[in-house]
Amino acid sequence: MTLTLKIWRQKGPDAPGRFVTYEAGDVSPDMSFLEMLDMLNQDLIKKGEEPVAFENDCREGICGACSVMINGQAHGSKRGITACQLHMRLFNNGDTVTIEPWRAKAFPVIKDLVVDRSALDRVMQAGGFVSVRTGAVPDANAVPVPKENADKAMDAAACIGCGACVAACKNASAMLFLGAKVSQYALLPQGHPERTRRVLAMVEAADKEGFGNCTNTSECEAACPKEISVTHIARLNRELLRAALRA
Ligand code: SF4
Ligand code: FES
Repeated sequence: MTLTLKIWRQKGPDAPGRFVTYEAGDVSPDMSFLEMLDMLNQDLIKKGEEPVAFENDCREGICGACSVMINGQAHGSKRGITACQLHMRLFNNGDTVTIEPWRAKAFPVIKDLVVDRSALDRVMQAGGFVSVRTGAVPDANAVPVPKENADKAMDAAACIGCGACVAACKNASAMLFLGAKVSQYALLPQGHPERTRRVLAMVEAADKEGFGNCTNTSECEAACPKEISVTHIARLNRELLRAALRA
């Protein structure tokens, strides 16, 4: 199939950006979205033009690097997958596809589709280490954890830090990311010694990075490739209230 691609091109953080239109021919329905971009870049290189910069690593939904808006939706229209897991069979011959970077004050564009998502790393860093010695696997299993809490903590830990929740939110809020990261520790006994300090430090760090506030539209949950539930935002709010009363 042949597609018309409208891709955001921006030479650097301070350069003005614009959409550039490309024709992508011979696109196989079996290709992944990133393979389609690879093919476009090979054609651009052959023509002596600058290839489109986009971030990627695992190409199997693990690392969260392939963060792009496709037709206005973070990671594309299919729920529960990353852009690298998106297949071209979801598109039709003759479609126009708009591809742009995450748009958020906390994620400045580095080049074309690549943004700097290190703000999320700094928020995680503010949370600090778990001081409890969890030991080897049999020791960890010796700490009783209610099955329901273990399942919820596991679901929260599925967050890959891609930032789609921020990109999808009209306020560029990182509350779903924060909710997942705070919940995964708050739900387990090993996370309790630093429970109060951790949530206060992470929320303060997120505010400093310029992420917005949550207004409960749940766009984040709809965009999240790991289908992290907004119930983790509710837990984050309870953890924050609890910590504020104790601090
Ligand atoms: S909560 Fe979901 S959308 Fe947000 S960073 Fe984690 S995996 Fe990505
Ligand atoms: S490249 Fe790793 S999640 Fe897409």
